Amino acid sequence: MTTTFKTIIEPFRIKSVERIRMTKEEERQQYLRAAHYNPFLLRSDQVIIDLLTDSGTSAMSAEQWAGIMRGDESYAGAASWQRMEAAVQDLTGYPYVLPTHQGRAAEHLLYTRIGGPGRVFVSNTHFDTTRANIEFSGAEAIDIPIAEGRRPEVYHPFKGNLDTERLLDIIAERGAENIAAVILTVTNNSGGGQPVSMENARAVGAICRRHGIRFILDACRIAENAWFIRHREAGFEGKTYRQIAQEMFSLADGCVFSAKKDALVNIGGFLALRDLDLAVQCRTVLIITEGYATYGGLSGRDMEAIAIGLEEVFDADYLHYRIKSTEYLAEGLHQLGVPIMQPAGGHAVYIDAKAFYPHIPVEEYPGQALVCSLYLTGGIRCCEIGSVMFGKYDAEGRLIPAAMELVRLAIPRRVYTQSHIDYVIETFSHLIAERGNAAGLRIVSEPPFLRHFTARFEQLKVNREKEESLLNNVI
Ligand code: F0G
Repeated sequence: MTTTFKTIIEPFRIKSVERIRMTKEEERQQYLRAAHYNPFLLRSDQVIIDLLTDSGTSAMSAEQWAGIMRGDESYAGAASWQRMEAAVQDLTGYPYVLPTHQGRAAEHLLYTRIGGPGRVFVSNTHFDTTRANIEFSGAEAIDIPIAEGRRPEVYHPFKGNLDTERLLDIIAERGAENIAAVILTVTNNSGGGQPVSMENARAVGAICRRHGIRFILDACRIAENAWFIRHREAGFEGKTYRQIAQEMFSLADGCVFSAKKDALVNIGGFLALRDLDLAVQCRTVLIITEGYATYGGLSGRDMEAIAIGLEEVFDADYLHYRIKSTEYLAEGLHQLGVPIMQPAGGHAVYIDAKAFYPHIPVEEYPGQALVCSLYLTGGIRCCEIGSVMFGKYDAEGRLIPAAMELVRLAIPRRVYTQSHIDYVIETFSHLIAERGNAAGLRIVSEPPFLRHFTARFEQLKVNREKEESLLNNVI
């Protein structure tokens, strides 16, 4: 009998470290005020634990750094390009690979090509940049996650699934010939990092084939998605994570891929397609906007690191550690009574800020209040996904709030250890003790688009006394 362990061991040793500058709450109060209560405006050295995103924040392995030294920087036909192309072809089964500087550039190539006025895209949930690229082309983007995917408190093993009944309705209403593509985002980032089952991907693939509609995967977290399939869906026990991902790729006509997630690199992406004609059309735009066909927006060393990262991410020990450590954070918060989206997603834990700060009305942005409290108390930076990000105004200037007030704690890959995560959980225990004192915010200035990045806020009265006393203590 083998002994089982509760402790999740990081399946790597640390060879090179990056200093974290430790700050005091008094200093953070000053920084937060100078950043107008918007952590996007903080400097990274003012942050202790940075959970703003899992994108481009991975720690590379010694093998990847060695690959960086091997990078071939030839303009055309570089050896590093051949390695990346082969790695992508082998994983996806798609013959035509177009390298780009990151995911949204791949989206831009494809969606401006097949989009345009009158065209419709359907997805479990379009990621922000996906929707923006589609709408920028003049086309329409429709999200149809299953009903459980919109309810944070409800458990479902595959909350990222697409509602196939709705898909059939939309095809009947709009006509298959007007649907530019069905896009399955795996895992579904905007829907809480929730996985999509193979059964759902097969059903979507079958509907698309029957109606002659293009089927595209937004596959940047497909390795994490494969972990969930292996452990939650019957029939995959004997398969490797890589085989599961390959099966999912085999169902679709192509993919857009941000390498900044599951390829474990800091920059990069690609578009991969089965269709030669479409690949040739997209490649023309690639050469005009990104770079020559064998490097796109990337240097040789970037392509080398991507090829290696796409291998490493499917390591069973790595994926186990990755998903279990996200679950560990979710479980620790749940134990404290913090309301979180259930079950935990692959790359992030989402907190229901409306339930955490019930005394703060949505007009005073409870999610932003929680983001500020986490920074002030623990030096933790994260992102509001609620009415600051998605809120709109009616004709009278009143806020039309978002459907949910969430805060995302996104976990960079291979960067933080269990003690960092314990510290995050402990920070929440302090926030719970002081929950009643948390103050809402008011927006002082905001840009017309994507306001969450640069909006400036002012804290409403409740916390002023504490703030003054902290500021008076600065040494
Ligand atoms: N698709 C998904 C599902 C994403 O999560 C992202 C990026 C992109 C496409 C765009 O890729 O950033 O390389 O251009 N998500 C990041 C995040 C920004 O923080 O979730 P990119």
